[in-house]
Amino acid sequence: MGFRLVLLLVFLYGGKCEVKQDLGGEWSLKDETEEYKDLSATVPGGIYTDLMNPSNKILGNIYAGFNDIEYKWVARYNWTYSTTFQVQEDLTKRDVINLVLEGVDTFATIFINDVKVGTTENMFVRYIFEITNTLKAGVNTITLKFDSPITVSEELAKKQAEDYAVPPDCVPDSYKGECHVNFIRKIPASFSWDWGPAFPSVGIWKDIYLEAFYVTTIRYVVAEVIDSGDNWLLSIDTYFAPKTTGITGKLDVSLQTKREPIQTSSEVILGEPNEHGEIFVTTNVTVPKSSVDLWWPNGYGKQPLYTLNVTFTNDKESSTSQKKIGFRKIEIMQDELDSGLAFYFKVNNVPIYAMGVNVIPLDILPEESYKRETVDRLLAAVAEYTEMNMLRVWGGGVYESDYFYEMADKYGLMIWQDFVFASAMYPANAEFLSNVQREVNHQVKRIQSHASLAVWGGNNENEGNLASNHFNTADNFDVYKADYIKLYIDTVRDEMRRATKNANFVNSSPTNGIQTDKEGYVASDPGSNFYGDKHYYNNKKDSLDESIFPTPRFSSEYGYQSLPSVTSWLTVANSSVLNLNSDFMKHRQHHPDGNDPLKNLIEFQMELPSEDNEYYDEAVIYYTQIIQAMSVKTETEHYRRFMGRFDDQGQGNTMGALFWQLNDVWVAPSWASIDYTGRWKMLHNFVPNFFSHELVTGHYNKDSKKLEIYHMLNKPNVDGEKWINLTVYSWESFTPLNVTQLIGEFEPLVARLVASYDVDQFLSDSGCGAADVAKYNCFVHIVGGKDGTVLTPSNYFFPSKFKEAKLKNSNVEIISVDMIDAKGLRFHVWVKADAPSLFVWLDPHDIKGHFLENGFIQHSLVTTVTFIADSPTTSEDLKQALTVTHLRDPKYFISRK
Ligand SMILES: *[C@@H]1O[C@H](CO)[C@@H](O)[C@H](O)[C@H]1NC(C)=O
Ligand SMILES: *[C@@H]1O[C@H](CO)[C@@H](O)[C@H](O)[C@H]1NC(C)=O
Ligand SMILES: *[C@@H]1O[C@H](CO)[C@@H](O)[C@H](O)[C@H]1NC(C)=O
Ligand SMILES: *[C@@H]1O[C@H](CO)[C@@H](O)[C@H](O)[C@H]1NC(C)=O
Ligand SMILES: *[C@@H]1O[C@H](CO)[C@@H](O)[C@H](O)[C@H]1NC(C)=O
Ligand SMILES: *[C@@H]1O[C@H](CO)[C@@H](O)[C@H](O)[C@H]1NC(C)=O
Repeated sequence: MGFRLVLLLVFLYGGKCEVKQDLGGEWSLKDETEEYKDLSATVPGGIYTDLMNPSNKILGNIYAGFNDIEYKWVARYNWTYSTTFQVQEDLTKRDVINLVLEGVDTFATIFINDVKVGTTENMFVRYIFEITNTLKAGVNTITLKFDSPITVSEELAKKQAEDYAVPPDCVPDSYKGECHVNFIRKIPASFSWDWGPAFPSVGIWKDIYLEAFYVTTIRYVVAEVIDSGDNWLLSIDTYFAPKTTGITGKLDVSLQTKREPIQTSSEVILGEPNEHGEIFVTTNVTVPKSSVDLWWPNGYGKQPLYTLNVTFTNDKESSTSQKKIGFRKIEIMQDELDSGLAFYFKVNNVPIYAMGVNVIPLDILPEESYKRETVDRLLAAVAEYTEMNMLRVWGGGVYESDYFYEMADKYGLMIWQDFVFASAMYPANAEFLSNVQREVNHQVKRIQSHASLAVWGGNNENEGNLASNHFNTADNFDVYKADYIKLYIDTVRDEMRRATKNANFVNSSPTNGIQTDKEGYVASDPGSNFYGDKHYYNNKKDSLDESIFPTPRFSSEYGYQSLPSVTSWLTVANSSVLNLNSDFMKHRQHHPDGNDPLKNLIEFQMELPSEDNEYYDEAVIYYTQIIQAMSVKTETEHYRRFMGRFDDQGQGNTMGALFWQLNDVWVAPSWASIDYTGRWKMLHNFVPNFFSHELVTGHYNKDSKKLEIYHMLNKPNVDGEKWINLTVYSWESFTPLNVTQLIGEFEPLVARLVASYDVDQFLSDSGCGAADVAKYNCFVHIVGGKDGTVLTPSNYFFPSKFKEAKLKNSNVEIISVDMIDAKGLRFHVWVKADAPSLFVWLDPHDIKGHFLENGFIQHSLVTTVTFIADSPTTSEDLKQALTVTHLRDPKYFISRK
């Protein structure tokens, strides 16, 4: 291999500069035993990508078939990455030369010119090794020898077990995963999860470069915005490279505002490092509130960001760093209530109803998860098409890329950032804790300045796991509890607080918030409805029966599984295996309960076609998407109906709903609303409706047997008199039987019961037949507005189970497809039906893109919906590709024989 192109990034300030030289590009790869050698590799990257690379052809498509099992050997090998690079004379003249590794996955020993320069053991730490005396002008070599993460975690678990075991021994068998990921600082889900395969990657997953300077360089700028009356206090901690004491220089800080920039300049002396080895300078900047606009969550206002420039200069050198700052105050309110405590977010003194979703790693391969395209696609689907305002970056995954948080700032998506610990007990020996401390220190300083960063969470579900004896820790409870406190409180929380001034923190999720602290950090019931947040899943009971759902203060996880579309499955399997009972479909289902709940949940409400129907497998897939979408809608509306309200036990005042989960890491049954190929499931089309800031719902109260109409408005606007129309349709006709109009002024921030009716009586009076059968004959369309404007999404009340309703086997067809822009990216699709039809689903198959409305209820002869293509296409091609189905598609009722 020839010498790679040398990239020199030079930052020039008055002729003095620090230098960076990127070492990424084409490397070579082998395994320790040289069974595989002279392979080509891409840095940054990872072992699976490299082995799939067509020039190596060691692996096929890791995402297809049973390849996750087939390729388990990869992570058991010990891989070596190496390359040679040229260093110019100029660089070596600097006083300090460092090798900087932004992310190494995970256990590597690093050599420069065959001299060992360091080792790594945490993929979430940035490693910096001084190589001033090892590097030379001219040709150099660099080698990273990786140890198998499987071998290392096993050894660490064994060693720990000599004292006492730290469970679980392994993930459930149904995950087909690897064991003991809790012993190493690596994406927990890379050893498998209930929605994902085990691909424990290995490699240099983020940038690697040389940096050289004369005196110092800025390592981090942590800029925090603190409310202080008429002004914002912008508190800036500028961290410098250590081992450079006694340096003097000038620190220039400049903040862009609506008016003139605010500038300060001070003489600084970089003294001895503190006890944590840090050298930093705090600069306070007073920013009059009138000189900047407020940053708001999505749907509440704009997201203005102002550039902050921090520059250190002395006669030898300059170093500079820029940030985008948003001015906002985010608080977690836990005021006393009649029973328990509230739990909600307040932004700029306005109570916020958190509406959002949990994010798993954007890709199972960490290097892929940092790709901009992936971030753009997912965050746009959240913020451009819905009013969601919060993402929980879940603790079994990864701290996201800088770009991810930049986009969250831009879109107004508040981030609930878990530290990366999930669903396991963790060790708390000194080495582990100091490793975690480095990680927390780095990640907090890297991310904390983002306006979107709303709260840090200590871990996912581990307070609950300990309290509920999930991992059989009860016999030794005091030991595990002491370890829990050492790790999440004394290390994670305290290290985070050292680096921040006003960060929000919760110990776990779910947790009881400050009540958990009072109970000694492990509450007796961390999932209490009366405190903090809650996770709730139930795949056994009828999910459209709202009485099954709890009424917590804040629901931070809830969801239902479905299957990705046929076209997505075909990227990884043949059509012959798309049956729930096939070995392949059983293999992809990692939930210990298997595929049965998928079917059982459908059958509470709907009747599947007979198994001898030609379209049976396709129908099952489609029906799982219906039941997922309807279940999450029903549960979300339940949570929203308790905004500002309590039930007679004092439960309620629910102020958050974050469903599980946004995305996927492979094509498999999962809780995701967007599948791994980027296709929206029906659920994602329902999100803009059930998460609309203003919403009207029709809900069946099982106790009173009444239809209750609720109005919710999350924003504190007082809008005057509004109307709500209840339009009753029979399943026979598009002509409404009756419209009942409700008029009133509806308070914001409190879900308001507007009207209630005896269901049978109401429908019977509306013309649906005798009171005992009326519910089978009709449904109700519900929408609200003001004057001539509709303000809420269409909502529906279905008074009977779908399988009992007198629905028609109607004919639904696409009658026209029209391009509506000049670029071939937007189309109108005209859909005609001969009777009201449910969950009308348009599938563009191989034409990538999404419908703004899909899975809709058609109650007019013709409906027009908008399709947005990912890349240009034509109306002819789209029309050719499109198919349409609905709940009672006649094709589902033809027997194969
Ligand atoms: C990887 O290294 C470990 C530790 O030295 C060793 O036990 C293991 O056999 C090696 N794996 C392979 C496939 O060579
Ligand atoms: C910055 O402001 C805070 C809060 O007023 C104060 O405690 C701190 O001492 C100030 N720091 C400097 C360096 O001025
Ligand atoms: C940051 O500030 C320095 C010193 O004031 C200036 O030289 C530099 O151009 C600024 N950088 C940006 C990107 O504005
Ligand atoms: C589909 O079937 C063909 C022929 O049997 C086989 O070669 C191929 O590997 C299968 N593809 C998948 C993804 O299972
Ligand atoms: C609501 O009902 C009123 C009274 O029947 C009717 O005039 C109006 O057009 C309806 N609005 C919508 C959007 O259906
Ligand atoms: C419409 O429904 C309401 C409420 O059930 C009822 O009072 C009214 O008589 C109905 N109107 C017609 C025209 O059926």
